[in-house]
Amino acid sequence: MKSFFHVQDIGPLDAALREALEVKANPLAWKHLGENRTIILVFFNSSLRTRLSSQKAALNLGMDPIVLNVNGDSWKLETGMGVVMDGDKSEHLREAIPVIGSYCDIIGVRSFAGLKDKEFDYNETILRQFIEYSGKPVISLESATVHPCQAFADLITIEEYRKKRRPKVVLSWAPHPGCLPQAVPNSFAEWMDAADVELVVTQPEGYELDPRFTGGARIEYDQMKALEGADFVYAKNWSATKEYGRNICHDRSWTIDKAHMDVTENAYFMHCLPVRRNVIVTDEVIDSPRSLVIPEAANRVVSAQVVMKRMLEDLVK
Ligand code: CP
Repeated sequence: MKSFFHVQDIGPLDAALREALEVKANPLAWKHLGENRTIILVFFNSSLRTRLSSQKAALNLGMDPIVLNVNGDSWKLETGMGVVMDGDKSEHLREAIPVIGSYCDIIGVRSFAGLKDKEFDYNETILRQFIEYSGKPVISLESATVHPCQAFADLITIEEYRKKRRPKVVLSWAPHPGCLPQAVPNSFAEWMDAADVELVVTQPEGYELDPRFTGGARIEYDQMKALEGADFVYAKNWSATKEYGRNICHDRSWTIDKAHMDVTENAYFMHCLPVRRNVIVTDEVIDSPRSLVIPEAANRVVSAQVVMKRMLEDLVK
């Protein structure tokens, strides 16, 4: 695997899920693969789960993980091309990326959407530079438009908890005081569309995700109607897509509460975390026995480990 970015990069999902469950059952069985190998995890943005789960996955595989917090403990990096660098940024990505690549075998990159320039974000300008200039396999640890390690962990969790062969999975927009990227819902929709589930996406007008990600999903503007009979409810805020990056809906009736869960088929509640309690979801729902937020987060180690394992296996071919 040269890069991990979209669902197609992992190949057939049934094989990936089987491998994930093997890795989960025996996480140290491939410790030899990463011996004398190094992964550098580059963070342009904050993280709890991705940072820790990626390091844990690397350690399980015998690799040495190095974390670089860009703008925190490195030079501030310029990302624009043709910029006159007379501001506060001392180094350009064009040099930094090949230098980072020369120190490691695999690179992971977290680089959120700026939400100012849709074309810059949706071209994955920063991640593509890492792929082009590092000479190393690159993992998106949530880049401008996708969060594949999260979506793979979500799919593993649904596989573990589903009672039906083809469960109904509802991705529901939920309110938030800020303006968040579309990476998590994009990837969740993309992975669910590729999986054997019935996918429904519900959001207010103006928040429609790109059909490249939602694929054959049913799009439903009536949230309660969308939730009827759901087996899994995946809540997430994202910023508007029509007025790109803006927060145009503050309607708290979209907060997932007991009344929303009552119309489902005793659904499980999912969220990638971090979550704003009593804004995205009420305490009652997230603290209920049907909440999967902690198993989902735990599966972030498994998804990262499968991806790194496959990259290491390719390195010795
Ligand atoms: N879900 C997720 O990616 O969490 P972090 O932002 O804490 O890494």
